Amino acid sequence: MSPKITIKQLSKMKKSRKKIVMITAYDALFGALFDPIVDVLLVGDSLVMSFGGKSDTLGATMDQMIYHTQAVCAGRQKSLVLFDMPFGSYTDRETALKNAVRVYQETGADAVKLEGGKEKAEIVRHLSQNAIAVFGHIGLMPQHVRSEGEYSVKGRSEADKQAIIEDALALERSGAVALIIEGVMPDVALAVTQQVSIPTIGIGAGAACDGQVLVWSDMVGLFGQFVPKFVKQYIQAGELIQEAVGQYASEVRSGHFPDVNHQY
Ligand code: KIV
Repeated sequence: MSPKITIKQLSKMKKSRKKIVMITAYDALFGALFDPIVDVLLVGDSLVMSFGGKSDTLGATMDQMIYHTQAVCAGRQKSLVLFDMPFGSYTDRETALKNAVRVYQETGADAVKLEGGKEKAEIVRHLSQNAIAVFGHIGLMPQHVRSEGEYSVKGRSEADKQAIIEDALALERSGAVALIIEGVMPDVALAVTQQVSIPTIGIGAGAACDGQVLVWSDMVGLFGQFVPKFVKQYIQAGELIQEAVGQYASEVRSGHFPDVNHQY
């Protein structure tokens, strides 16, 4: 079995320009399937959209995220597991610490992720000072969708670009161990990646980041309601699964399943 991937190793990967591969996982079955292939399994709050049928991520709760992270940890052998702090779980230093301690005590997650830039720097510092490893999440922040009214690409103007770079630097100074950069113009991700010494993981942020992350159900073609421009669908798994289930249904209806090979 390969040794477990650590935050130190992710940092070494940045230095040696070896790309970091992150993918979401929400359960033991798929966590175990992805574990040998990737470096980081992100238990994202995208869970409630991809599998919970919700229209945004804001309904995810600590209890749900903890349950799913326990499952992913049960399936993982060597990947680093990253817990996505749900909306409302890190509104102030004390709330954030209480919830992050719960994550470490109740799951095997190695780090937590929270959305926000310089306005969250003090919270990141408080968690770091209390032995919690924190990934920042800057640029497009899905938990802001209701307050902003839409998902919009960030960093189109010079002022916006500078603000994102400042967010990244503030989070690094506060002790963040890595950054997710979502939905920004590629030059913004490039500038951030060059200016911080911690690894950057992009999603819809171009190729310059130290690594990439995708929501697994998006990249295998399971979640077809909305396919963002940055998502590459490597297979159409939804169609393949429907084909298989369709065959099963027709064999049950015709009496061809189960046959003698599939009974005791
Ligand atoms: O919840 C999630 O899956 C995420 C990714 C989009 C980075 O935060």
